[in-house]
Amino acid sequence: MDGFGPALPAAGRGVEELLGEVDELTEGDADWRGGRTFSLVYNADDPELTRLHDEIGRRFLAENALNPFAFPSLGRMEQEVVAAAAAVTGLAGGGGTMSSGGTESIFLAVHTARQWAAEQGVDRPAIVTARTAHPAFAKACHYLGVEQRRVGTGPDLRADVEAMASALDERAVLLVASAPCYPFGVIDPVTEIAALAERRGVLCHVDACLGGWLLPFWERLGEPVGPWDFRVPGVTSLSADVHKYGYAFKGASVVLYRDPAMVRRQWFVFDDWPGGLYGSATTAGTRPAAPIAGAWATIRHLGADGYLAKARVVRDTTRRFRQGVDAVPGLAVTGEPDLSVFELASSVLDIGAVGDVMDERGWHLDRQQGGLHLMVSPYHARVVERFLADLAEAAATDRTGAGRDATYGAVPPS
Ligand SMILES: Cc1ncc(COP(=O)(O)O)c(C=O)c1O
Repeated sequence: MDGFGPALPAAGRGVEELLGEVDELTEGDADWRGGRTFSLVYNADDPELTRLHDEIGRRFLAENALNPFAFPSLGRMEQEVVAAAAAVTGLAGGGGTMSSGGTESIFLAVHTARQWAAEQGVDRPAIVTARTAHPAFAKACHYLGVEQRRVGTGPDLRADVEAMASALDERAVLLVASAPCYPFGVIDPVTEIAALAERRGVLCHVDACLGGWLLPFWERLGEPVGPWDFRVPGVTSLSADVHKYGYAFKGASVVLYRDPAMVRRQWFVFDDWPGGLYGSATTAGTRPAAPIAGAWATIRHLGADGYLAKARVVRDTTRRFRQGVDAVPGLAVTGEPDLSVFELASSVLDIGAVGDVMDERGWHLDRQQGGLHLMVSPYHARVVERFLADLAEAAATDRTGAGRDATYGAVPPS
């Protein structure tokens, strides 16, 4: 048979040949295994965990979590992952589901709030976030036809609660707090935001996508951690990504609700189809099984002791990074980050040029509007000194003319 041109040649190719081509294709990719990336990969520095991931990935490639009746193992694992997330975030008696990541968990929380609002007779709902809230809220609002009201932050870069209060009216149904926010790693005043929501009789979501699996252990290390989870009255939902500091492989997050009745509002059910009743709690139809099984196995493998040990490494390595940065003339960490996520900035150096030199030396620092972004994971303990030596040299390099723009995700085709 003729093929379809070079895009789909007629003849298939052998496994070895293709694996060789994959090796070639990935040659130019970022060296995350060597600790050169910061926010894209959470390198747990744990060969046993990697072995477990390889095994689980292999075993669960074909199963479909759309139908828990066919694969009860997946239904059970999902419930147990949700239960573990509830346990570490102080939730008793609530409910939730897994999702494919932070963006989907946030999407689902906004969707659920919209459903709830419709039941209260609010048909053009709005949510209120700080300007530091993750763009997933803007995306969810865009898809769902919900208005997002973005307010400023105080001098400490945390959400300005008074500005949030001023943004409220009868259409505002959900207030958002980040724990912590991605750009500066600070936790918003969750207690005040949740209290404001409670007084107004509206919902409050905590975006703990980043902190949800680290903060509980940071706290157990004795670090000062402000209130951020379901122990705070008025918090009605929370997202926590297992594929970030939960160290699962990608495609695993949890969205939780204090009131189990809210979970029902997240569901989409359609019963007028020749194919039968279609019920689905998340946005995907066919749902990959591997991330569910991977999250379950990771949580069980590490246990609370494993998470605590990794949190200690992350905490100690963060201190080394921050002390090292403070020692470089002209560079400073922005604000007072609460965790292991922060921005490097400068009022005297061309920070874009510093980023360019770091790029040339093989580091992949994300560029923000005001500086370079770092997110510390356990493997970075092995490379922190090398990083700091390169950073000092980059700062001492007399250059101007920042190269890349501040970008976080991809850039659309022009
Ligand atoms: C605070 C916060 N919320 C949400 C997200 C979105 O998560 P994901 O990229 O898994 O969709 C991120 C990603 O870094 C984040 O840092």
